[in-house]
Amino acid sequence: MKIIEVRDYKEMSQKAAEWIIHQVRINPHSVLGLATGGTMLGTYAALVEDYRNHQTTYRHVHTVNLDEYIGLDGDHPNSYRYYMNHHFFHFIDIPSSQTHIPNGLAEDVEAECQRYEEMIQAVGGIDLQIVGIGQNGHIGFNEPGTSFDSTTHVVRLAESTRKANARFFSSIEEVPTHAITMGIATIMKSKQILLLASGEEKATILSQLLETEVTPAIPASILKTHDNVTIMADQKALALV
Ligand code: GLP
Repeated sequence: MKIIEVRDYKEMSQKAAEWIIHQVRINPHSVLGLATGGTMLGTYAALVEDYRNHQTTYRHVHTVNLDEYIGLDGDHPNSYRYYMNHHFFHFIDIPSSQTHIPNGLAEDVEAECQRYEEMIQAVGGIDLQIVGIGQNGHIGFNEPGTSFDSTTHVVRLAESTRKANARFFSSIEEVPTHAITMGIATIMKSKQILLLASGEEKATILSQLLETEVTPAIPASILKTHDNVTIMADQKALALV
């Protein structure tokens, strides 16, 4: 894994956006794997600004998001569909039919997982996957203990994850208990992976990640076995490394 240290959140966001823009410029038909969470907000803001200034086109791009809460409608402000629309998709020229996020309201969630997995392969597989990292080492919503062979599946969220994400909801009771997430094997099939981390709350997990053997106890540790992974993190996130 290559590590790029940046000064702060702003620089990480700018550089991550440049990375994505480069990918889209060299291959206008790219499949971008996208993430949500606080980490990504600055990157999407930088991409929207670039689009305003330079009209980088996403007309032929497909995006596939890592995960979605079960039980939230795409119009619910805390759904990841809403997040993506309101921070990114509505401001660029990507056709909405080319933006893919698991359907958290699917009647048959198992069938939805299978459809999602097949869709990713049908659009050509992921060229560049962006991931954040949970404080317990999760990627997507693959909590500790998840099999490295997992494909898109339903997960019960760890209480620590619900607590960490409660800041986006009015109370922890409102945070869904389950989600659909790309599996670890799905993420690992991506040609290139960029992991972003910012802030002191990510310092412990980043140092654990860099020191640990590959173990399901820290799902992100599997990234060590991928041949094209870059961690881009700011000084606070790398403070314990
Ligand atoms: C969330 C998401 C992940 C995200 C991670 C970190 O629960 N499912 O995709 O990368 O946890 O979130 P944040 O960026 O808000 O710290």
